[in-house]
Amino acid sequence: MVQPANLTVLCLASYYKGTEFLRECKRQGCRVLLLTSQSLEKEEWPRESIDEIFYLPDQDRKWNLQDAILGVSDLAKKESIDRIVPLDDFDLETAAALREHLRVGGMGETTTRYFRDKLAMRAKAQDEDLPVPPFIHVLNQEKLRDFVHGISPPWVLKPRSQAGAIGIKKITSAEELWQAIDKLGDQQSFYLLEQYVPGDIYHVDSIIYERKLLFSIASRYGTPPMDVSHGGGVFTTRTIPPGSPEEKELTELNERVLEAFNLVRGVSHSEFIRAWDGGRLYFLETSARVGGAHIAELVEAATGINLWAEWAKIEVVAGKNPYHVPVAKKDSAGLVISLARQQWPDTSEYCDSEIVWRMNKEHHAGLIVKSSSPERVQALVEGYSRRFQQDFMAYHPPQEKPTH
Ligand SMILES: Nc1ncnc2c1ncn2[C@@H]1O[C@H](COP(=O)(O)OP(=O)(O)O)[C@@H](O)[C@H]1O
Ligand SMILES: [Mg+2]
Repeated sequence: MVQPANLTVLCLASYYKGTEFLRECKRQGCRVLLLTSQSLEKEEWPRESIDEIFYLPDQDRKWNLQDAILGVSDLAKKESIDRIVPLDDFDLETAAALREHLRVGGMGETTTRYFRDKLAMRAKAQDEDLPVPPFIHVLNQEKLRDFVHGISPPWVLKPRSQAGAIGIKKITSAEELWQAIDKLGDQQSFYLLEQYVPGDIYHVDSIIYERKLLFSIASRYGTPPMDVSHGGGVFTTRTIPPGSPEEKELTELNERVLEAFNLVRGVSHSEFIRAWDGGRLYFLETSARVGGAHIAELVEAATGINLWAEWAKIEVVAGKNPYHVPVAKKDSAGLVISLARQQWPDTSEYCDSEIVWRMNKEHHAGLIVKSSSPERVQALVEGYSRRFQQDFMAYHPPQEKPTH
């Protein structure tokens, strides 16, 4: 068991998430400070578990790093901050910069790069002989031309440090590529270009403590996330039965990635592509955070393990005490989410006993199902996905910029 601690934990959240992390920190006896965005003041933060909330001005959901450094340094005059934890992907760099500035332990700026910058991930993975699609930095013109001549399209032009398929573009010809690159203007060097590998997309969600992979669960998205966010469609994912050959292969590759990238402790959400042509598994991306899109709820349905709460326990013990992951249940679970035409879509017609979670968000419909039978989960997810298209689906054009 984790011992109660008198630690002060500063959580950074430029997005509304991680409420269970905040609650668990309080349960562990920590002093809990939250730094969030002014625009998120009205969100339902678990205020009973937070000692103090501080707000930073935000623009397009981003903070000014200097504001954060000055603000937190000022805060540190009175608070002795022991941990700095980013709850959203976009907060990783801020957390690392603050740790370096205040000399607080945890992941520093060098390692953080591997978990945020898709170009750094690709280069590091290639160095470590992990399978990645051919890629190139959008930087040197001659090298780009060589890439375009040597690697057949389609390609994907993607921002190095975004998430949720934001700003990613599938490109089918050299002409289209030069136009797209031209349009990026002085932002080109913040992009990479890689070969588009048609295939199934998987995710592996894991818990790591003192460089040991203690828990992981593999799942497969239905339609690839880019097709959902760009083409409109129902987002689905379902867990892969533990112990199956497919699960083993994914778990092993994920473990190699996290080892190579030097994740010491915490949680990770990594993604992989299995090429339809030839079946090879490629590393797509990784992160040092809980997966978005309600994947934490999916994992909890299948295993009983709440990744946010476990991460909080890990941050508290942080190598100084033993940490044991709870025994995972081996159920299967599936998640179905769609943007909805209706402001508050009614899912009451969906009443199978396997439903364990319903989304409660404006213009969204979402369900999680759980069963001891993977086949039953598959049938439910496929059936719901079809019904969601009729009952709720709405199409919104892809985001160019992140919004709240
Ligand atoms: N090289 C690729 N080949 C095929 N599909 C890709 C490739 N890169 C990205 N995608 C598609 O785009 C989605 C988002 O890409 P990803 O690199 O995971 O960025 P994000 O951080 O936005 O999730 C993927 O889930 C997949 O559908
Ligand atoms: Mg992704």
